[in-house]
Amino acid sequence: MYDNLFSPVQIGRLEIKNRVAMTAMGLNLAAAGGGVNDDAIAFYEARAKGGVGLIISGLCRVLDGAGVGEPNQLAARHSGDLQGLERLMDAVHKYGTRIFIQLHHPGREGQLMFGEQPVAASAIPHPLSGQSPRALTLPEIGKIQTAFVTGARIAQMAGADGVELHGAHGYLINSFLSPYLNRREDNYGGSLENRLRFLVEILAGIRAACGQNFPLGVRISADEFLGDQGNDLAASCRIAAALEKAGVDFLDISCTIPESPPKAALTCIEPGTFEQGWKRYMAAEIKQHVRIPLIAVANIKEPQVAEEILREGCCDLVGVARGHLADPAWCNKAKAGRAEMIRKCIGCLVCINEICHHRHIKCSVNPTTGREREFARPERNGAGRTIAVIGGGPAGLTAAMVLKDRGFHPVLFDAARRLGGTLNLADKGIGKDKITRYIDSMIAQAQESGIDLRPGEEATVAKVQALSPSGVFVACGARPFIPPVPGIDGGNVVLAEEVLLHPEEAKGDCVIIGSGMTGLETAEVVLKSGHRTTIADLLPEIGAGADMMTILDAKQRMAPYDPTYLPGHKLLRVTQEGVEFECLATGLPVRVTADTVILALGVRPQTDLVARFKAAFPDAHVLGDASRGGRVVDATQDAYGQAFVYEP
Ligand SMILES: Cc1cc2nc3c(=O)[nH]c(=O)nc-3n(C[C@H](O)[C@H](O)[C@H](O)COP(=O)(O)O)c2cc1C
Repeated sequence: MYDNLFSPVQIGRLEIKNRVAMTAMGLNLAAAGGGVNDDAIAFYEARAKGGVGLIISGLCRVLDGAGVGEPNQLAARHSGDLQGLERLMDAVHKYGTRIFIQLHHPGREGQLMFGEQPVAASAIPHPLSGQSPRALTLPEIGKIQTAFVTGARIAQMAGADGVELHGAHGYLINSFLSPYLNRREDNYGGSLENRLRFLVEILAGIRAACGQNFPLGVRISADEFLGDQGNDLAASCRIAAALEKAGVDFLDISCTIPESPPKAALTCIEPGTFEQGWKRYMAAEIKQHVRIPLIAVANIKEPQVAEEILREGCCDLVGVARGHLADPAWCNKAKAGRAEMIRKCIGCLVCINEICHHRHIKCSVNPTTGREREFARPERNGAGRTIAVIGGGPAGLTAAMVLKDRGFHPVLFDAARRLGGTLNLADKGIGKDKITRYIDSMIAQAQESGIDLRPGEEATVAKVQALSPSGVFVACGARPFIPPVPGIDGGNVVLAEEVLLHPEEAKGDCVIIGSGMTGLETAEVVLKSGHRTTIADLLPEIGAGADMMTILDAKQRMAPYDPTYLPGHKLLRVTQEGVEFECLATGLPVRVTADTVILALGVRPQTDLVARFKAAFPDAHVLGDASRGGRVVDATQDAYGQAFVYEP
């Protein structure tokens, strides 16, 4: 079925059992201060068990201080790091999976709060933090190069199958490679040959220390999206050819640096709205210039897309990074011809957001990600006892599946005919098809597990009592918040949810109250239907609290339609003519004329329903949005945890 995907491939002399690579993901899950711990081992082991051919570890530091990329990352600094790495390699190798360590120095992205002043090829301030690095001196360059070589040797001695040098994303090696980031006037700056020198000398050092047969590769940003001011795809083809000549065994194709223009900056770790496979053209172009194997990421969620990319010959291994956060068994399920069972990444970016806030890796659709050890051994003591689950959204479905796995007999009610709860609204925004696929995969898994699913059947206290359940889980979700202001019950007011389902509800000029994700998704729908639209929020920023990249993505896609943004505006009343706000900065009233007023003010738990079930079943567990309205990740984490520790 996926003949290319599951055919073996060689990198140097190393054979890899299939063509799926889980590319590097910093997890911030390892030991404080750097080094392997049991949590990191459990994370990687789960992916190896799930059948992936090659794992590239998350960024691994070779130095402390300015070399710190994440507070809790892997480390290959000295012999003390070897034993932990060895345990990690052994855990992965049991499954026939290969593992490369990604050696990394953050350069300018070093964290002032954890170490020294960041260092880089040149002192170019970081565009987001404004923090300026110090340009490295020649002796410092030598020391860092030695640290990379030592790191590679430690990885090799620990049993790693190879190493990848992180030469992308604006980190230290990239700061030498990029003409935009490298303004040096010595032998390490200027011409391409000079800009390559820092990396090429490291490669030579690693070859000398680790031998000719130790697989060695580089991750590059194939396009910095700065035209010829940075490395564009044409320049990267030259870099790729030079690296092949310098003896690397493979290249791993990614893109962007922090200076990449906002639209392009999203392309390194894309929000869910991007097409699967869209950036295959980068690897395909580089492939014309080298013979060594290429690994390429392309926002891949589904095996048939990965198979197509391989069939087209764009690369030799496909990178599936977030796909493995969502479902560690991505490969095994694909190989078994059960792609519909793969729990699909929705591209919500919670994973990277958690890391950026120095918390450990999490995944909205897979609550066990980063908590593999904690959830390793469910107590299977359900003994077929019946549990009523009220609500079939992400929280209800998650709880039911955990309970089923524990041997209980969950009976899940949902008034709607399609399970998935409010996700069935969330997927109505433009480009939200990945949410539909996630719902489909949840339903498929729940059906297969044998849960007694009752879609289209509203739970009542009497119905639940008739089951004589030994437990009740209430996951009935939330409903939209409607603020008590004059005119709110007018005929010109509609809920964002209604507009998402029936865009024709929006008429004439629209004003959307609330700029969270639902507000912005609705705005995009109405703007693209041709309505002039104003988006207002009480908070001082549009999309406050939501993921920054997702907001940027939404704003960019709406920009051609020229919406008006009114942050810092308090809704006072709705009138026949539109809306009256108070501008919080000036205290003055602001009137916006509109034909349709769309409410997108978030949700509040269905407390009346919860109270009814709590009155009948005082020990009932309340989950997800029914307990506190929030994100998918909050709902699934809550549900999984409560169902995992539940004792009747
Ligand atoms: C949480 C997270 C952490 C990441 N950390 C790294 C990293 O340490 N090194 C790296 O080269 N890329 C890193 N990436 C980028 C991924 O390797 C990959 O290129 C990107 O997620 C796109 O691939 P995907 O669509 O299959 O997820 C990270 C991505 C995510 C989501």
